[in-house]
Amino acid sequence: MIGSPRQHVDECESTQLLLGPDDPEGAIATTDHQTGGRGRRGRRWVEAPGTSVLVSVLLRPPPDRSAPQVSLLGGLAAAMAAEDALALAAQIKWPNDVMVDRRKVAGVLAEARDGAVVLGIGVNVNQSREQLPADARVRAASLRMIDGRVRDRGQVLASLLAHLDRLYAAWVEGGLDAVYDDLGARDFLRGRRVTVDGVLGTAQMIARDGRLEIQTESGPRLIESGEVLFER
Ligand code: BTN
Repeated sequence: MIGSPRQHVDECESTQLLLGPDDPEGAIATTDHQTGGRGRRGRRWVEAPGTSVLVSVLLRPPPDRSAPQVSLLGGLAAAMAAEDALALAAQIKWPNDVMVDRRKVAGVLAEARDGAVVLGIGVNVNQSREQLPADARVRAASLRMIDGRVRDRGQVLASLLAHLDRLYAAWVEGGLDAVYDDLGARDFLRGRRVTVDGVLGTAQMIARDGRLEIQTESGPRLIESGEVLFER
């Protein structure tokens, strides 16, 4: 069961560092503030104290499964939690950004460690515009900036964990196929002009194995991982 046991600290460097090999699968760590929050590709994840959902989950996926697929599950769970909170559609910008109204409201980081995966999810819940970086590569927003409502972060966390629990169990049982309809329906990049690590093309779809299919001048390409820039 994802969410138990739970350790919560008021502040830490990163919740990613609070889980280790001795923790059982499903254990989570949460905090109100990170002093060294980690983002993808060595970036920082910065939030104002007490504004966000900051959670890491210890998972032990079957050995033949890829960590990038776990990251997609985290994004899908966060998108569903944002939808529950807002009653609006959320999308996944492959591989790991959760978008509402073309702005990033959540990010996901999956780190492989000692045969396990530490899945970290940050959701911008109650930040004001001034509390979010104005110069982010993908424009950032909080749920509060979308509809003006201040929310109970505990409820957003509970919804996120419930979705992740269900999605993860389905994925362990049936692979990405088992959650593909939910994923494909929230594909932000589909049809957009994109550049992935210097390669220009049009995003076609998230493939059934979790890679991103793009159409380039020289034909279709399946992207394993990378940074996607899109035209607005
Ligand atoms: C990204 O979009 O670059 C990924 C951001 C992931 C942030 C979360 S917050 C909880 C967990 N702890 C961290 O240090 N990072 C992840």
